Amino acid sequence: MRTPIIAGNWKLNMNPDQTKEFVAAVKNKLPNQNTVEALICAPAVDLDALKKAAAGSNLLVGAENAYFEDEGAFTGETSPKVLKEMGIDYCIIGHSERREYFHETDEDINKKAQALFANGVTPIICCGESLETREADQQAEWVIQQIKAALAGLTNDQVAKAVIAYEPIWAIGTGKTASSDQAQEMCKTIRDTVRDLYNDETADNVRIQYGGSVNPGNVKELMAKPDIDGGLVGGASLKPDSYLALVNYQ
Ligand code: G3P
Repeated sequence: MRTPIIAGNWKLNMNPDQTKEFVAAVKNKLPNQNTVEALICAPAVDLDALKKAAAGSNLLVGAENAYFEDEGAFTGETSPKVLKEMGIDYCIIGHSERREYFHETDEDINKKAQALFANGVTPIICCGESLETREADQQAEWVIQQIKAALAGLTNDQVAKAVIAYEPIWAIGTGKTASSDQAQEMCKTIRDTVRDLYNDETADNVRIQYGGSVNPGNVKELMAKPDIDGGLVGGASLKPDSYLALVNYQ
């Protein structure tokens, strides 16, 4: 069965000292990795501190973004190859904030997924609709095309290992969580899309997270849904107590 994965996305918050303090507060209270994977995705400038502080604990470490080239004249970018060398396990790609503010396209996200897999880093591929799209009841069509574009050219084995995060934009940082039924419906739509594109085995193995105002009060209900395998959490992942409540939801 799929191992649940609860991931913090720190976004542009925390510095290396705060990172060390956070890890010191949580490292001995995390679930076993076979029960729930507890992950923090941090800004690139914090990854070295995070990885070192997490050594020997059950905390997994992820990046928030990477480029699709390993090296070269790409000022300001983060190399997927170096992430692997640093021992980084996961990398978020295609977050709606990156799509909106940094103009990332579906094609970029697909190239990033390919580059991460080529380096042995697992992508967390984000998708999700705007409020306008939800109000027009076009969310399924929207997300299906995002998933098809992001997964283009990936193999069965790669997609089976990938994590997909469904994050409706209208629920991010707004305190307005999608209902557990709305979240389940979309996570099932994503799994059905993977089933159509690949096969049953791949669809049954790919892990799908919900993100958007997840907090200690709603995590249990969301995680009880059959197609929700985890959470991608912004604001509520920044404080040790709240993060611990999330990863220990069981
Ligand atoms: O990637 C996590 C995210 O965008 C949700 O943020 O603050 O609503 O949990 P938040």
